[in-house]
Order: sequence, then C-alpha cells, then structure tokens
Amino acid sequence: MSNKKQYKRITVKSLVEMKATGEKISMLTAYDYTMAKIVDGAGVDVILVGDSASNVMAGHETTLPITLDQMIYHASSVVRAIERSLVVVDLPFGTYQSDSKEALRSAIRIMKESGGHAVKLEGGKEIKDSIKKILNAGIPVMGHLGLTPQSIYKFGTYTVRAKEEEEAEQLLLDAKMLERIGCFAIVLEKIPAKLAKQVAESISIPVIGIGAGADVDGQVLVLHDMIGMTHEFNPRFLRRYMNLYETMTKSIGKYVSDVKSSDFPNAEEQY
Ligand code: KIV
Repeated sequence: MSNKKQYKRITVKSLVEMKATGEKISMLTAYDYTMAKIVDGAGVDVILVGDSASNVMAGHETTLPITLDQMIYHASSVVRAIERSLVVVDLPFGTYQSDSKEALRSAIRIMKESGGHAVKLEGGKEIKDSIKKILNAGIPVMGHLGLTPQSIYKFGTYTVRAKEEEEAEQLLLDAKMLERIGCFAIVLEKIPAKLAKQVAESISIPVIGIGAGADVDGQVLVLHDMIGMTHEFNPRFLRRYMNLYETMTKSIGKYVSDVKSSDFPNAEEQY
C-alpha cells in the first residue's frame, strides 16, 4: 500500500505540498465536459484548460485567435465535470498584456463565469505588474516560461528556448521573481533539461514541464496529443499512449460500411 497522501480535492496548497514531499504532479489539458470527466476520474492532479484549444478544438494555426469568451465556455464545461482535479485556465492572448487592470478584469471574468480555480499567464518580468494585480485579488496564478506560444511571431519558430546563456539566465531570474511575488507553480515549456532541473532546484513552488526533461516536479501534455487523436504533431517530448486517430478512423469507417450495407441497425437495435 502506498504511503502517498490521498487528496480528495487538489488545491494550490496540495501542489506545493507534493513538491515538498517529492510526489510528482500530473497535469493534462481538457477543453470539454466529456474529456474532463475521464481525465478527472483517471486521477490527474491538474486539468489545464489551455489556449491550445485554439489549435486542437478550433483548428487555428496558433493560440492567438482564441477569445476570453471562448476560454470561459471551455473552462465552464470542464468545471462541470470535475470532482478532484484543480482546474487552471489560460488567459488568452490580448487579455492581459496591455495593462494590469485589464489583466485583472480578464482573470475575474474567468473565475466568476467559469468557476475555474486558477489562471495561467505566459511571460516573466514584462507581465509582473499584471500578475501581482491578479494575485492581490486572491486569484492563484501559474506562470509559464520558456517557449510561450502566444509570442510565436516574436520567436518565429517553435524550437527549444533558452539554449543561450543570456536567455537561460533571464529565465531563471523570471522563475525566482514569479515565486517571490506569489505564483503557486510554473510551467516550463521546451527548454534544455539541465536548465529546467536548475530552476526546479532553485525555487520551492512546483515546476511542471513539457519538453523540459524529467528533473522537474511534474509533467503536462496536451490530451489530444497523448491519446493520439492528433497525428501530425510529433515533437520529441511527446509520448503517445494510444493511437486514437487510427482506432477512430477504423471504427467510423466500419460504421459507414454497416450503414451502407444495411447491417446497422439490426433487429435488436430497434424498437
Ligand atoms: O495551452 C496549453 O495547452 C499549454 C500547455 C502546452 C502547457 O499551455
């Protein structure tokens, strides 16, 4: 029998406690009720209503087009499904970068209208005032450093970030600043594993990695990628646990042929 603490409900405090006791944190995205029910029931600690919904659910090339109203719709669907997981909701592009008052208004809308438990914002020192304002209103904030997809047009590519010393040093400073002002956790996306380890060892709040190696406090993946529902996106960090794309394509193909051949419905499948 495991002597790991059983959490009935995950809170931001549970995550900090998990880091302190060396229990790794599991996090996955979800954007709708049905998927969130499965993810929550399977025991995932944190559900991220990521702005990756812009790609995965809406088919946009980047995360930039998704709106605050759309994020609230996705997040409220997820919240209705969960019993145990902590629900973190991304503040979408354009809802927090211009000034801290707008950032607070956006975060309040998410908390009030979706019932989510915390928000996530991409960036370091350049959005410090916005994060502080949100924290001062009692809203928990998760940071996000490294590859920050909302800045894709500044980077020009989705390749590994902070390989150069100057960027790595700034990332470490940003992580320490996020801890100091009161963030409860930080996502590190696509950075060298060595740097991610250094960050995780330098701060007491959990560091959750995606493409950041094993020596951090938890891992996050996009659900549709890890269950193989998407199949065009194949970064090195992605482990696919299923090939749902293939399974679904075969099953749907079988349904089509059953309908065409009048095999479906049969005598037991009608009234
Ligand atoms: O939007 C998202 O899914 C994310 C994860 C990749 C961390 O931010």
